[in-house]
Amino acid sequence: MRTRKLGEVEVSAIGLGAMPLSIEGRPDRERALATIHAALDAGVTLIDTADSYHWHPDEVGHNEELLAGLKGVLIATKGGRGRPGDGSWTVDASPEHLKRACEGSLRRLRVDVIDLYQLHKPDPAVPFEDSLGALAELHAEGKIRAIGLSNVDTAQILRARELLGPTVVSVQNEFSPRVRTSEPELRLCAELGIAFLPWSPLGGISRSSLDGPSELAGDTEFHRVARDLGVSPQRVCLAWLLSLSPTVIPIPGASRPESIRDSAAAWELGWGSGPDETIGDQEHRPVWTGGSGGGGLRHPGEARGGDGNGQTR
Ligand SMILES: NC(=O)c1ccc[n+]([C@@H]2O[C@H](COP(=O)([O-])OP(=O)(O)OC[C@H]3O[C@@H](n4cnc5c(N)ncnc54)[C@H](OP(=O)(O)O)[C@@H]3O)[C@@H](O)[C@H]2O)c1
Repeated sequence: MRTRKLGEVEVSAIGLGAMPLSIEGRPDRERALATIHAALDAGVTLIDTADSYHWHPDEVGHNEELLAGLKGVLIATKGGRGRPGDGSWTVDASPEHLKRACEGSLRRLRVDVIDLYQLHKPDPAVPFEDSLGALAELHAEGKIRAIGLSNVDTAQILRARELLGPTVVSVQNEFSPRVRTSEPELRLCAELGIAFLPWSPLGGISRSSLDGPSELAGDTEFHRVARDLGVSPQRVCLAWLLSLSPTVIPIPGASRPESIRDSAAAWELGWGSGPDETIGDQEHRPVWTGGSGGGGLRHPGEARGGDGNGQTR
């Protein structure tokens, strides 16, 4: 698989989002490990996790433990959220919590240094700069190699870059055909050369919303292109995301080996957006005409395609 830059290193252009392997509805351990190994066999070298990817309150780090000891893959984890066990997600991005959480992640991943440590979500009760300060200290202590931010806006990205410089290498925000509100962040990351990791890129938490029944199921632009090409709509969606900017690295979730195998092949559609990346069938590539929360998506050659309200949401 082709690679894209995550700070100083190259990782596969499609990563694996490991969350479905540990939260509600998760597969048994055997299938979880088979999914991870299918990803590695398909050339995936980036896996996204978090200490809060677990189900019951007494199993913090369930997801990280599944990934411990893997070789040849960059594990990106996060701190700053919790799961009390009632299905909800809490936020604590205080410096004390982040430092404690990082120690826990180091232990569970069985590493001396975490390749990419992401602030899971800014905490409204904590000044953003204080959370960044904790990440800077962890970096200075050699516990984390690079810093990522998640669920941030453009002002926060710029502030983090101002304070922490190029140690900030990634932004992870929700972005999919259904949720396009982070277009400004995606564009800013492209300008700054920061990797943009769209979360829930297929619009699903436990199941891709391109795979119905859902509001997206049916005759979307993605389904039409997929039919023309004889591939899954999920693969078309991921290839479309790759085409938006050379710094986009989608992290589709999977709880089955078949899902990540299929997703990893999205690169082969050849709709990359960097120099020498666009090698495939450009004729079928859907073009996003911009706009948040329902920007137009059209086929080259068509006057207008999905309008985001009926066909692509
Ligand atoms: N930073 C944050 O706040 C945040 C929030 C949410 C998620 N995330 C990250 O983003 C990752 C991805 O998001 P997500 O898991 O919520 O949703 P997603 O990637 O939009 O959808 C995942 C679901 O889509 C299905 N799927 C994946 N590839 C497929 C394919 N090629 N064909 C058919 N179905 C396919 C999978 O089904 P199967 O389960 O059947 O394999 C999976 O359950 C997470 O795993 C997590 O790492 C981060």
